[in-house]
Amino acid sequence: MFRAILMEKGEDGAATARLATLKDSALPAGEVTVAVDYTTVNYKDGLCLSASGGGLVRSYPHVPGIDFAGVVEASADARYRPGDRVVLTGWRVGEAWWGGFAEKARVKADWLVRLPETISTRAAMAVGTAGFTAAQALMALEAQGLRPDQGEVLVTGAAGGVGSIALALLARAGYAAAAVTGRPETADYLTGLGARRIVPRAELAEAIRKPLEAETWAGCIDAVGGAMLARVLGQMKAGASVAAVGNAGGVQVPANIIPFLLRGVNLLGINSVTVPHAHRVAIWDRLARDLDLGLLERMIRPAVLAEVPALGAAILKGEVQGRVVVDVRA
Ligand SMILES: NC(=O)c1ccc[n+]([C@@H]2O[C@H](COP(=O)([O-])OP(=O)(O)OC[C@H]3O[C@@H](n4cnc5c(N)ncnc54)[C@H](OP(=O)(O)O)[C@@H]3O)[C@@H](O)[C@H]2O)c1
Repeated sequence: MFRAILMEKGEDGAATARLATLKDSALPAGEVTVAVDYTTVNYKDGLCLSASGGGLVRSYPHVPGIDFAGVVEASADARYRPGDRVVLTGWRVGEAWWGGFAEKARVKADWLVRLPETISTRAAMAVGTAGFTAAQALMALEAQGLRPDQGEVLVTGAAGGVGSIALALLARAGYAAAAVTGRPETADYLTGLGARRIVPRAELAEAIRKPLEAETWAGCIDAVGGAMLARVLGQMKAGASVAAVGNAGGVQVPANIIPFLLRGVNLLGINSVTVPHAHRVAIWDRLARDLDLGLLERMIRPAVLAEVPALGAAILKGEVQGRVVVDVRA
């Protein structure tokens, strides 16, 4: 038997989540069974936990949870043995497949990554999809030529999960990061993570009036999208790139073409879900090398499994700061 957050559809078509005890035989087919130590709550988890499933959940009953880290319990695949420490992010686990809000998960071997020695299963979930994507975004900007001496790098949605880890990674790598937040009370938290200055959300919230503004940012990791992304594009330095990670502020981007044409600005799409295995390993290695685990500890909001449904609702309202780490066995 194992405990899990189980989502079921009611007669009204709305899905609800509850803490349930399930038999091992309820687990889906898969090659590797993992005893989950920790999971986390991302924005996407909030969508999956909602009454509609956010258009992401394929079928019910469903166990959500897009990330987990734990220890291999049994494996039909030669690459994994009982006792191996593993992490899973992406591959639509927790959406199309049962996920990590459970004491046990069964998945395809190809989806797992062996954790680097220095990253505990708890730290792995403080990183989670949010941190993985932040590192992927920074690596994408660097692949386009971004270097610390080129100027300030903007991080939008800074007090959220992606933003928080992006700030910590940028600071460790020597970049001057500017943090956009709509929550002024998080300023100490953000500067503690390494932000050199805070940009109030209101300064970038207004729709663009002119296509080009002063060349300000050497790079941008954008978790917000919407009108803010459109605005930021007009403030990028010539040849600079924006890594488009999220849509916390909206999916419609009322952008102007001129920054692309006159400044050669690049918009890089970041998709953390289907990253090939070798690149996943490289991203986790970068996190192991360049993420200050002391800073990571400051971002953690500890939680237990029973709190997950409420945390899902809170993250959709933008009320969660940093990274939720759920001790699944507590
Ligand atoms: N592309 C991918 O593979 C991938 C992977 C992970 C996440 N994502 C996406 O990235 C985004 C961030 O994820 P997350 O886990 O970091 O979520 P999160 O913890 O909820 O952070 C999002 C942050 O965005 C800001 N924000 C929220 N609503 C806003 C609004 N209406 N206008 C402007 N800013 C707003 C808030 O930051 P402040 O309070 O500091 O303003 C909030 O903390 C989400 O859209 C998520 O779906 C995409």
